[in-house]
Amino acid sequence: MDAKKLAGEKAIEFIENDMIVGLGTGSTVHWSILKLGELVKQGLNIKGVPTSRQTEQLANELGIPLVGLSSIDQIDLTVDGADEANPDFELIKGGGGALLREKMVASISKRMIVVMDETKYVANLGKFPLPVEVTQFGWEMTCRQIKSLGCEPKLRLNNNLPFITDNGNYILDCDFGEIYDAENLNHTLNMIPGVVENGLFVNMTDTMVIGNRNGHVDIL
Ligand code: 5RP
Repeated sequence: MDAKKLAGEKAIEFIENDMIVGLGTGSTVHWSILKLGELVKQGLNIKGVPTSRQTEQLANELGIPLVGLSSIDQIDLTVDGADEANPDFELIKGGGGALLREKMVASISKRMIVVMDETKYVANLGKFPLPVEVTQFGWEMTCRQIKSLGCEPKLRLNNNLPFITDNGNYILDCDFGEIYDAENLNHTLNMIPGVVENGLFVNMTDTMVIGNRNGHVDIL
């Protein structure tokens, strides 16, 4: 049983006609977007807001109508994945490198439904290194500033070259160990001038849809 597919498809039940829907990025929400494409073909009327070029391309292939942030102030519901989630509904995101657009979309969403398999649901955040998007300009300095907060940052690579986000920035994957105060760390990181955004999502999620290998789906 594919737990990601179970969770991804289940989340589509929250979507209603005429909604503006934030479309997340990753292999779990991929299943949500495929299902949504089927429903659109059957007549469901929604508009999607993609959180990455990859999601934009998939939505276009499936015929899901899209709208950009320039022409909307609010999103009814966003479906997105996570790299880790804790019982306080705090998340680490950005494993796929789309955290900035994902957080911008989440920030104007009335509801955020997070889809994941059971391995992502943890007591404490931090086993997954926290992705932090930084400007290319002065990134080594920004890296030292982040390191001084007590972590081991590593520049994300792609084929031995720095990974470049859809926004033209770099990503530092930062191992902070267990994160006990996500809200404070979120603010502290974003105070560093070279930090564009970090992957901690605090007070943004209201529902988690968790697929299990045994075929069961938990909705929290
Ligand atoms: C991309 C993300 C993804 O939502 C996150 O990495 C989870 O991905 P997947 O569903 O493939 O495990 O934050 O930036």
